Amino acid sequence: MMQDQLRKWWKEGVVYQIYPRSFQDTTGNGIGDLRGVIQRLDYIQSLGVDIIWLNPVYVSPNDDNGYDIADYRNIMPEFGTMQDFDALLFGMKERGLKLVMDLVVNHTSDEHEWFVESRKSRDNPYRDYYHWWPAEKGIPPKRWSYFDVEGNAWKYDEPSDAYYLHSFSVKQPDLKWENPKVREEVHDIMKFWFNKGVDGFRMDVISFISKDTDYPELPERFNGDFVPFYSDGPKLHEYLHEIHTEVLNKYDVMTVGEAPGIGLDKALDFVDEDRQELNMFFHFDLMALDREEQKVFEMRKDNWKLTEFKRIHSQWDAVFSKKGWGSMFLDNHDFPRSVSRWGRDSRSHWFKSATMLQTFLLTMRGTPYFYYGEEIGMTNIKFDKISDYKDINTLNRYKTIELEGGDTEAFLRNEQDASRDNARTPMQWNTTAHAGFSKEKPWIKVNDNYKEGVNVATQEEDAYSVLNYFKRMVEIRKEHLILVYGTYQLLQEDHEEIYAYTRSMENHRYLILLSFSTQRATIDLAELAFEKTKLLISNDDVRPREGKTFELYSYQACVYQLD
Ligand code: GLC
Repeated sequence: MMQDQLRKWWKEGVVYQIYPRSFQDTTGNGIGDLRGVIQRLDYIQSLGVDIIWLNPVYVSPNDDNGYDIADYRNIMPEFGTMQDFDALLFGMKERGLKLVMDLVVNHTSDEHEWFVESRKSRDNPYRDYYHWWPAEKGIPPKRWSYFDVEGNAWKYDEPSDAYYLHSFSVKQPDLKWENPKVREEVHDIMKFWFNKGVDGFRMDVISFISKDTDYPELPERFNGDFVPFYSDGPKLHEYLHEIHTEVLNKYDVMTVGEAPGIGLDKALDFVDEDRQELNMFFHFDLMALDREEQKVFEMRKDNWKLTEFKRIHSQWDAVFSKKGWGSMFLDNHDFPRSVSRWGRDSRSHWFKSATMLQTFLLTMRGTPYFYYGEEIGMTNIKFDKISDYKDINTLNRYKTIELEGGDTEAFLRNEQDASRDNARTPMQWNTTAHAGFSKEKPWIKVNDNYKEGVNVATQEEDAYSVLNYFKRMVEIRKEHLILVYGTYQLLQEDHEEIYAYTRSMENHRYLILLSFSTQRATIDLAELAFEKTKLLISNDDVRPREGKTFELYSYQACVYQLD
């Protein structure tokens, strides 16, 4: 049914993202490690997923939990050794699992030897690896930084009397991709890992790598929102294509770029196969839906609407209908837990909304990415004190508000829903101390609801658990290739309670109904001609009323095959 050349393992695979710091500790230091991932490989295999994306495991002072890399070719000692890494890769290959690593090359750590050298003097051989602005030219043109307490991306550095650029924290200086040596270094790093047998990279803020090194004044319109400016560098596509020619086309690997600032109009520039750049990327349209306009860290005051949620996914599906390929995710290490965000984590709706959301990701076109714990419906921890937080993003924004004399209480309320730490709490394995994550006190608090069923061991025993639903739903995606490749068509786009769509190819058709409502809800599908429905799966033991009109129970999800 499919032309074989269009079929790809990374289109058909289900991705499972692991934040290693929080997955499984085997040494008793309260920090997850690679041996921990190895110990859990049978579990991961039992999920039916195919690809593991591992957040950064390289040597790092952990200013931003591994996104500040000091050595790209060695493993962070807290996580283990290169032998552990090799054993992990071996264990994965044995189980038919693929490994995608994180490639963080918009910036390094300030403790990377390139930067240690670069900052020494203006004539150091590594000087041109980073962006420098000599102090005698005055204050450099405004650039915004994410994790800087003053929001300033230029940091004055005494030894060479110059400013360096850091789009993230002061300990994350931006690499200067305009220097061909930097690009060669990146290519070599990629080859190093590919030669070890790694199957791909998730490329951190890859849309930011190209910069105008005349450093023009930031146009006024980008002052509130600098992301579109950062993601529109003049040579971005030249650099991505070069990576393809120099590295990617020599291996059977996958790439997925993290692409803040990239909208529908630019999507195909990255993933149109003929352009030879990336395979997939993560857009931020969904992640912005429940946030204030242009403020990705601030919860939106009026709630998001299902029609908006549908519009985003339908538009993105349409972009990739003929070329390229999409990626589907509802959360990751930078955003709160999906069930708390897009569903409800209250006792009465937790199971249904968590499984409904899983059904969604697994019945859309585009590769589905699940984040560790999503398969058991892990929820936001909602810290109430600043001292519980570990994330530099929350901690530094708190400092900024304090400095400005702002409302820190309001900020803390916002972070209960918005913070990245909501998604970084330890994996909940069982009901023993610390949820079985570690024998000692974990680096960040465990969510107490591991005692109330949100843990792997309890859910493995329960046929009707979020976990067992997940496994069955993954199997269904695998059994019905049309759920991967079939055409998507939205039905009843104005419906505010039910998301309904079909996936079809040739004479085969599937109908997916997802209730986002806490009440019963009906949808009229008279427009859809069919004779018989076969229910493949539902997250409710009561079948909905079917016919021209369907009536679903709260957060019910159903996948039908139509005849
Ligand atoms: C990406 C990562 C995030 C990190 C940032 C800086 O957005 O996903 O965790 O803080 O880049 O590297």
